[in-house]
Amino acid sequence: MTDQADELKRAVSFAAVDRYVRAGTCIGLGTGTTARWAIVRVGERVARGESIVVVPTSGATERECRELGIPLAALGEREIDVAIDGADEVAADWSLTKGGGGALFREKAVALAAGTFVVVVTPEKLVARLGAFATPVEVVPFTLRIVARAIEAAHPEVRVRRRGDDGAPFVTDNGNAILDCSFGPIDDPLALDVSLRAIHGVVATGLFPSALTSAVLVAESGGVRALGEPHARRT
Ligand code: 5RP
Repeated sequence: MTDQADELKRAVSFAAVDRYVRAGTCIGLGTGTTARWAIVRVGERVARGESIVVVPTSGATERECRELGIPLAALGEREIDVAIDGADEVAADWSLTKGGGGALFREKAVALAAGTFVVVVTPEKLVARLGAFATPVEVVPFTLRIVARAIEAAHPEVRVRRRGDDGAPFVTDNGNAILDCSFGPIDDPLALDVSLRAIHGVVATGLFPSALTSAVLVAESGGVRALGEPHARRT
């Protein structure tokens, strides 16, 4: 990653924390190379004495929070005021593809529990329709082959995600596998999510409905801008 790309990620995540995180609240923090800058910013504020508690969306985010001395809460322990997370794709209607880092299940659980869900991205993540990025589908390993076959019956390109280092199957924080499914342009992400979750063995998909997103912040070379007007969560 270039320093410039990382600088944009830092700028957008810092802006999200500065705009949306209030002292004395509990927040959700996402996973990935963009969201990790939000962890850094929250760490700075906690170090300055602000009381902010975090519900992490993955083991990796939990470890980073611990290293920075950020207090943690389990999902359901506290009301989550706002969750901040990155995305792999943001469509024009604010539906999302997530799960490039494999944390989709917990990311969706935290986003659903939060009063406000803020998405932080760099411009290449903005697309007209989802689908260029393969959709991650989290699957109970026992059912992996039959789920893959069921999806392949309608959509031929399904790959079992593997770890980058040794090529072994990727294992999520929930002990599950991931199928990366290339569906091509997706007209109705919500309907596709519902139909995939109807397959026995599918735990979650990385398709986030547009109604879940409250705001999208995009970092560009000229600064950070909000895409349209923020709105209340609609799901
Ligand atoms: C992890 C995610 C990430 O938010 C998504 O993959 C974007 O990551 P990055 O900011 O590194 O591009 O969904 O499961």
